[in-house]
Amino acid sequence: MAKPHLAVVVGSNRRDSINRKLALALAKLGADRFDANFVRIDHLPMFNQDLEGSLPPEVVRYKNELAQADGILIVTPEHDRSIPAVLKNAIDWGARPYGQNSWAGKPAFITGTSPGAIGSAIAQQHLRSVMVSLGTILQGGEAYVTFKPNLIDEHGNIADESTQKFLQGFIDRFATLVERLAPAAKRSAAA
Ligand code: FNR
Repeated sequence: MAKPHLAVVVGSNRRDSINRKLALALAKLGADRFDANFVRIDHLPMFNQDLEGSLPPEVVRYKNELAQADGILIVTPEHDRSIPAVLKNAIDWGARPYGQNSWAGKPAFITGTSPGAIGSAIAQQHLRSVMVSLGTILQGGEAYVTFKPNLIDEHGNIADESTQKFLQGFIDRFATLVERLAPAAKRSAAA
């Protein structure tokens, strides 16, 4: 059977984003269970309802990438105790136009990292409530990761053994959820 297809959304447009590093390490941990497509969000225009009548081509491509996904992994930083603007913008484009919600029915897991002790937890909680309202399926799966310079080694692997085990469990639970729901997620994208 073909592996499920994941869309990975990183909530940062920073070149050396620690959240992108974490997302790449997570994709490696799940590589035998799913294919991961990193979806770009930094080139999307600022959401404006006036553009909904004729969607910009980059928005169309972005929404198609979400539609093709069996599941969505969001890895986000925290900005001012909430969701970074670049990610909220991408969420809004995914949700619109009315009746073309790209998020509905998709299994999703949320995680993220920051150098702070609570590892982007407040942004993740805000994001969770937004994604529930948009109809993503969020079952379990929490990981608040404090970023330390040696968290990820030069090969892109999680260096610390206990963190590696914890994140492997997180990714395995997500892969199981996606495998279980993949046919339904595809059906909802086609609807
Ligand atoms: C931050 N940062 C931050 N960190 C945190 O733990 N809680 C917060 O509320 C904030 N707020 C915040 C606001 C703004 C505007 C910036 C630029 C940064 C620090 C943040 O965790 C750090 O910059 C990370 O490196 C961001 O992740 P990426 O972009 O490297 O993935």
